[in-house]
Amino acid sequence: MLQPSLTHGPSWKALAAHYDEVKELQLRELFAQDPIRGERFTCEAAGLFLDYSKHRITDETLRLLLNLAAEADLQGQIAAMFRGDHINLTEDRAVLHTALRAPKSYRIEVDGQNIIPGIHAVLDRMAAFCEQVRAGAWLGYTGRPIRRIVNIGIGGSDLGPVMAFEALKHYAARELDFRFVSNVDGSDFAEATRDLDPEETLFIVASKTFTTQETMTNAGTARAWCLAALKDEAAIARHFVALSTNAARVAAFGIDTANMFGFWDWVGGRYSMTSAIGLSTMLAIGPEHFRNMLAGFHAMDEHFRTAPFERNLPVLMGLIGLWYTDFFNAQAVAVLPYDQYLKRFPAYLQQLIMESNGKATTLAGQPVDYQTSAIYFGEPGTNGQHSFYQMIHQGTKLIPCDFIAFAQSLNPLGDHHDLLVSNVLAQAEALAFGKTEAEVKAEGTAEWLAPHRSFPGNRPSNLLLAECLTPAVLGSLVALYEHMVFTQGAIWCIDPFDQWGVELGKVLAQRIQPELEDTEEPELNHDSSTNALIRRYRRLRRS
Ligand code: F6P
Repeated sequence: MLQPSLTHGPSWKALAAHYDEVKELQLRELFAQDPIRGERFTCEAAGLFLDYSKHRITDETLRLLLNLAAEADLQGQIAAMFRGDHINLTEDRAVLHTALRAPKSYRIEVDGQNIIPGIHAVLDRMAAFCEQVRAGAWLGYTGRPIRRIVNIGIGGSDLGPVMAFEALKHYAARELDFRFVSNVDGSDFAEATRDLDPEETLFIVASKTFTTQETMTNAGTARAWCLAALKDEAAIARHFVALSTNAARVAAFGIDTANMFGFWDWVGGRYSMTSAIGLSTMLAIGPEHFRNMLAGFHAMDEHFRTAPFERNLPVLMGLIGLWYTDFFNAQAVAVLPYDQYLKRFPAYLQQLIMESNGKATTLAGQPVDYQTSAIYFGEPGTNGQHSFYQMIHQGTKLIPCDFIAFAQSLNPLGDHHDLLVSNVLAQAEALAFGKTEAEVKAEGTAEWLAPHRSFPGNRPSNLLLAECLTPAVLGSLVALYEHMVFTQGAIWCIDPFDQWGVELGKVLAQRIQPELEDTEEPELNHDSSTNALIRRYRRLRRS
């Protein structure tokens, strides 16, 4: 039976009508009307302060957005996730990444079994292993301590670990050298290992399924690379560990399951950085900092689960994001961390957000008649300012921004940090309030040049401010975005935890690969473009 679309509900209709009334409102006016708007439209939780005053919203907008959340039973959907219901409908799975960071005293059941002891048992094994490696007590096959660590994984088995490693480098053991190999392009492996000595290198093969083509190819190459130097299968046990849910495949690959750190099918790939997939992070920063990171995640999880929606950071960010996506038809969001350590954060968010909510079919199997995930992109400030900010300030597209800043630098150097922070505050101010032609002319700019030098303003942003980039703050920041994604997915009636859209390309690649390698001229039955490209590639490859 056809289910009525979200757009036919009273809350959506009310928002559509409200949009017509307020779409021309200017942030200049909103701030002029309410002198304490900059203090009122703020919210704080789990070490993060959010200023959402520079949005094209009124109290009424918020009220209507909160009605939409109520109509979608967001509260009920949050409870269902934390309870372990099979909310990942298309894969018939529970979604319990939040359990990965729950304290030992918690009890969360999946199919009648408390999963908390198992989670902590893996964490304890990871900690014992990390202590050994970090102390130089985990020896390679020839008796030398491990000093180089290569994480092989892709998607959630790479982006979270890389992002966290970069974000928390300040806390990392510098005597250990970390590399990350993800791409099936042999250059990735070759460049990551070209100066490594196999005798002191440990490979972490990170793959939830242990079937992913890129990871299995790179792991096979790593195995051959290791054996070419160490010349004994027994060396694999000292130089390879696996992070996976698939013990049978790990064993079949030749890694002893004693060297495997497991997790569970209720942890989605892009939600797995607090599972065993975080082993590289724990090796880098040590078990104590890792546990602090988990505590930060948990603090935000609890905030999301219990805080009233009008003071709930992920809910507010999710609803305001949806307001632009669905009513202003904004296509993108820029994530702009003013912290060099967060340089991989936008790349991490790309998978988290777009693989989760880049869907056009509702849970009932119907096409959506509204927009879903925005395009997320970004660079650390101030680099982005000298790259694409021009378009955000004066382009034809509305691009809401998420600015992220810290009050304290991890590397205080002269006035660098105040300069950095003055830039983030200035950008948010410039975007919101712009500069009129009259103001530009009043400064003496020639009539003809004034239109070019004026800024329309009215360009919205969030500003997230924390005291300092600690492991705990990173945890709350990531959990904030995880739950923002959940909020939007729940309202859009889609499944944020599947990713069927990645399947077709994988299947077609499996068909094409033998056609590229065939020594005889193969019969090709693709479209004329793909056929011609395959023939050309084969010709060029031979020459
Ligand atoms: O891109 C598809 C995907 O399934 C992601 O969701 C996942 O993070 C990635 O591939 C890697 O999967 P695995 O950890 O099973 O190798």
